[in-house]
Amino acid sequence: MSTTWWSRRIAPTALALVAVILAGCEYDTPRSALNPAGPVAAAQLDLFMLTFWWGLFIYVIVAGILCWALWRYRYRADQAEQKGIPAQIHGNTLLEMGWGLLPVIILIIIGIPTVRLIFANESRVEPTEGDLVVNVIGYRWWWEFEYPELGIVTANELHVPVDRRVILNLNSADVLHSFWAPRLGGKRDLIPNQDNELWLEADAPGIYLGHCAEFCLTAHAYMRFRVIAEAEEDFERWVEAFQGNETQLVAQTVPDPLIEAGRELFMTKGCAGCHAIRGVAQGQMGPDLTNFGLRTSIAAAVLENTPENLAWWISDPDEVKPGNFMPDLFREGDPNADEQVAALVAYLESLGAETLQSATAEGETWQ
Ligand code: CUA
Repeated sequence: MSTTWWSRRIAPTALALVAVILAGCEYDTPRSALNPAGPVAAAQLDLFMLTFWWGLFIYVIVAGILCWALWRYRYRADQAEQKGIPAQIHGNTLLEMGWGLLPVIILIIIGIPTVRLIFANESRVEPTEGDLVVNVIGYRWWWEFEYPELGIVTANELHVPVDRRVILNLNSADVLHSFWAPRLGGKRDLIPNQDNELWLEADAPGIYLGHCAEFCLTAHAYMRFRVIAEAEEDFERWVEAFQGNETQLVAQTVPDPLIEAGRELFMTKGCAGCHAIRGVAQGQMGPDLTNFGLRTSIAAAVLENTPENLAWWISDPDEVKPGNFMPDLFREGDPNADEQVAALVAYLESLGAETLQSATAEGETWQ
């Protein structure tokens, strides 16, 4: 096989491969750390880019010298006889000092901003006036967000006001997890019985996607969350909506039998054993569903919160999120399944919805 045979086939294959690999590069995706949306993430990106440019600069020089040497000292038939041992440069003080000192200088250049950033983004921060404190607990495979100063417990969606520092106290109820909202800042582990901290801040309103970044068994890939950053007024409105519904005992202006049926089923079908709803149920195993209707997503941010998706999630949890602990509520072919799922969906979606703000439909219970 000739050299041309190889170069004819290898060069196009290599180029095609590079093209395929480069097609995966996109910097402004919803989960890209190269697309920062807060000061912590921005500072971390700056440091990354500094290291990247230095790395590229060194690579170009080293690869350039290598290519030059390969070309300059390539085999040439007419010089074959003259070849002996080339000039030896072992023990050249200038060269040896040079390639010892240069890396040290480059490491110092990269090391100083690295250490500065580590201290600036210190993990142990004392909350000061204006900071929002949230306790984050990782469970297999969902997130609990508790706002101790606001009396709010919710799951999988972290509401934060923009331009305010949010201090997260991280802990785990079972195995190791890791909190990571790439556009807002670096990741940190949630470790059982160890209080870790992380702080972040969002520059602009928006939904920032997050993910568990530590393999935590079966449904790890489905352990997602959303950081919902809002203008201060909108955040306050969310807090009020959350605090307002003291008991979620279904309070429609016009009593809706489907919602009532859903509430009954929630209590009798086993849901209440695992889920809490303020004023209604106290289950501790699964996410707190208080004001569920205010959520944008379900199943730890795996699906959008729509009635169709919720019905799918309730009727076949394992299909939506393999490995999760929510049991199948309905046996195969249960004739009541569709009707009961519809009632549960109606009830859950009604929690926190505006229609609930009027008086409770007293005495109206579904039979
Ligand atoms: Cu939790 Cu991976």
